[in-house]
Amino acid sequence: MLITGIGELVTNDSSVGDGTALGIIANAAVVVERNRIAWVGESSLAPATDASYDVGGRAVIPGFVDSHSHLVFAGDRAHEFSARMTGTPYSAGGITTTVAATRAATDEQLAANVARLVGEMRRQGTTTIEIKSGYGLTVHDEARSLAIARQATRETTFLGAHVVAPEYADDPAGYVDLVTGPMLDACAPHAKWIDVFCDRGAFDADQARAILQAGKAKGLGGRLHANQLGHGPGVQLACEMSLIAVDHCTFLSDDDVSALAESGTTATLLPGVEFSTRSPYPDARRLIDAGCNVALASDCNPGSSYTSSMPLCIALAVREMGMSPGEALLAATRGGANALRRDEVGHLQIGATADLVILDAPSYLHLAYRPGVPLVFDVPGFVDAAFPSSVT
Ligand code: NIG
Ligand code: FE
Repeated sequence: MLITGIGELVTNDSSVGDGTALGIIANAAVVVERNRIAWVGESSLAPATDASYDVGGRAVIPGFVDSHSHLVFAGDRAHEFSARMTGTPYSAGGITTTVAATRAATDEQLAANVARLVGEMRRQGTTTIEIKSGYGLTVHDEARSLAIARQATRETTFLGAHVVAPEYADDPAGYVDLVTGPMLDACAPHAKWIDVFCDRGAFDADQARAILQAGKAKGLGGRLHANQLGHGPGVQLACEMSLIAVDHCTFLSDDDVSALAESGTTATLLPGVEFSTRSPYPDARRLIDAGCNVALASDCNPGSSYTSSMPLCIALAVREMGMSPGEALLAATRGGANALRRDEVGHLQIGATADLVILDAPSYLHLAYRPGVPLVFDVPGFVDAAFPSSVT
């Protein structure tokens, strides 16, 4: 299949096109064979193919890689959002509202909610998705959350350590024993990653270290929620443990920034959270200028960021966090792929999965320039109708 008539193709391959990190080729074409990119270049040089699809001068970008979401839940917290907009601060305690609703839901209800949100994401150009558990907080409810997430993506994360389960309010050490023991045993078969919310009102650095080490012993890669609600030890812990990613990174000291730059741990920035909790945005410019790896993700969840829109995250990152439009697009594609240790998505080099997104716009710049506008024209590169190729 030849996809041609591409006014602007973003490849994320600096060895082609304009030589920037985005590797932009004007008047481009792409050949897709068995859902892989087989050829990329100027359309006048394209090889002959069996079929072709003329996109009429539109821009084509790699699909977004949303490396942080919490889609397995029931209910919503619209009233909590409303209260925040009139001054009530966000706190980790609201998570237990969603825990109660999630425990009360059937598997079918939870799976239907995941499918609804995955559909929203696809329609907004996301082709690779990570999904966490974390609203069950019992052995049974965490394991079923992950089994449901696994139906939608291979990038599943065990987040039994989201907050201490209400039943263990007086025994947090007992809850850590549960998470690192029977809960991990039940969840590890369904998970690729393990995550801990290391912040005020959740888990401290010693608890997080113990949980991440237990997960590692079971073959799970570690990642962390850290420095969202204030300065804390999480970012340093992530760097010390050489985790692939540490997410939020809203409040950072100079030492945190240096540690991120030295360790190479990706700082995943989640601007939907700052938008929805009326908090100061993380300083992406400071991180990029210090040489840190950055990613952008939605953190889609009913509490702190109920958006599934990577284009919104890009627009916020550009307007509020000091990123250029190109840096924001890279962070939302290649950056997310790095944060999931995936090298076949997040770019459109030969051999990559053909996760192309056709924008109803002449340039990727419109993602930030036209905030709130549904700019995704088509997401054609799927193996089957149910899920994007890269989330099997
Ligand atoms: O990533 N920070 C912790 N967990 C989620 C919020 C969960 C919630 O409020 O329901 C987050 O922001
Ligand atoms: Fe999160």
